[in-house]
Amino acid sequence: MSRSAHPAGPRHADVLPEGHYAAPPADLNALDPKVWAQTVTRTAEGTVSVGGIDVKRLAEEFGTPAYFIDEADFRARARAWRTAFGADADVYYAGKAFLSRAVVRWLNEEGLNLDVCSGGELTTALSAGMPAERIAFHGNNKSAEEIEKAVSVGVGHIVLDSFQEIVRVAHIAERLGKRQRVLIRVTVGVEAHTHEFIATAHEDQKFGIALADGQAAEAVRRALKLDGLELVGIHSHIGSQIFDMAGFEVAARRVVSLLAEIRDEHGVELPEIDLGGGLGIAYTSDDDPREPHEIAKALSEIVTRECEVAGLRTPRISVEPGRAIVGPTAFTLYEVGTIKPLDGLRTYVSVDGGMSDNIRTALYDAEYSVALVSRTSDAEPMLVRVVGKHCESGDIVVRDAFLPADLAPGDLIAVPATGAYCRSMASNYNHALRPPVVAVRDGEARVIVRRETEEDLLRLDVG
Ligand code: LLP
Repeated sequence: MSRSAHPAGPRHADVLPEGHYAAPPADLNALDPKVWAQTVTRTAEGTVSVGGIDVKRLAEEFGTPAYFIDEADFRARARAWRTAFGADADVYYAGKAFLSRAVVRWLNEEGLNLDVCSGGELTTALSAGMPAERIAFHGNNKSAEEIEKAVSVGVGHIVLDSFQEIVRVAHIAERLGKRQRVLIRVTVGVEAHTHEFIATAHEDQKFGIALADGQAAEAVRRALKLDGLELVGIHSHIGSQIFDMAGFEVAARRVVSLLAEIRDEHGVELPEIDLGGGLGIAYTSDDDPREPHEIAKALSEIVTRECEVAGLRTPRISVEPGRAIVGPTAFTLYEVGTIKPLDGLRTYVSVDGGMSDNIRTALYDAEYSVALVSRTSDAEPMLVRVVGKHCESGDIVVRDAFLPADLAPGDLIAVPATGAYCRSMASNYNHALRPPVVAVRDGEARVIVRRETEEDLLRLDVG
């Protein structure tokens, strides 16, 4: 296990082998549709545009760094998930990937439900009109206030994550005179990797209740006894940025066998299973993500087959994609500042953002792509490391990539596939001002999350 292995998915932790980028891409001006949002294209003048608007114009109007989200692409991906899973299943967008009120409205209009994991996400969702019954509330340590709010507004599901929480939610619901629909989150003993999975007997992580040693069965026993709870199903989330379906299939099989055990012991067939999120996206041209319809087909086949074998009615399936919907729909636009060539090694290209707007490279050794977007260039490729303006050397946005050797201060470069877990994990490190999120569609651009200002910083700092 590398020093930075991360439970959210070892893919993040892959340390690039030496010489990974030994060969520069054939054409530095090309934009691989795998990693760029759908409407991103190079204009006749050589600049890049999104939603019909040139990035130079976007930079002038909104400044840099900034995230630009392709609204049509977001809606198309949300719709693709919805269509792939059909009317007998539910798609919950995982708000932790990126949540704003505009996004909530898009999801609502496209018929998706929403997974929230904090009071803040819940408030954002409700304030933008997401019906409470289409919200699932997650978290391994929900506060009493959060539970109380979720129950009082009538969220569709609370996903119970621990033995303590079974009792806590039941008490709060009873006190409020309610019966809360809940799922129990189990850890199925699958450790998901990108290209492999390792079945483990016990999971060494904070989430959920283990299937092993009869713990999940005991949780079900307790939940079924409590008047404040209506137990409707089992939840499993095996990890994130996963390409291989095998882990999901094992998880589905194990969840169905728990449903069969529950039927045998209690005479109850729980009507729902939620298989979580975690589907990987392309950050570089080397990644090959699965399409929603492939995922829907694989999951529904395995659940149907296993239920047939166990003599169970097929439960309603839910999934919770976050990254796979929003990730590919946005890019971060930066202006090139200083350039430092290190002969025979690489060139450091500093941009006007950094680890405060994309912590994923520093945190997970995540890989990203980058392109010069304010013009084309016929110059030779140079090996670059795109770094930020923060006071530490781990402030890396793109570890290894190629940009044209005539790159100069003032050029605009863009890092694609930053829609998920970049703005949502952004920080104020070094009192950086978090960048805006601008939605672009059909020739119109509008700010959906504004840029932070120094006044915002001072407002929090009460002296
Ligand atoms: N459902 C549950 C219960 C989750 O915990 C998560 C993600 C998702 C759904 C959505 O997973 P997705 O489809 O987006 O992979 N910060 C990390 C990712 C952490 C994911 C946490 N849970 C990153 O930047 O890669």
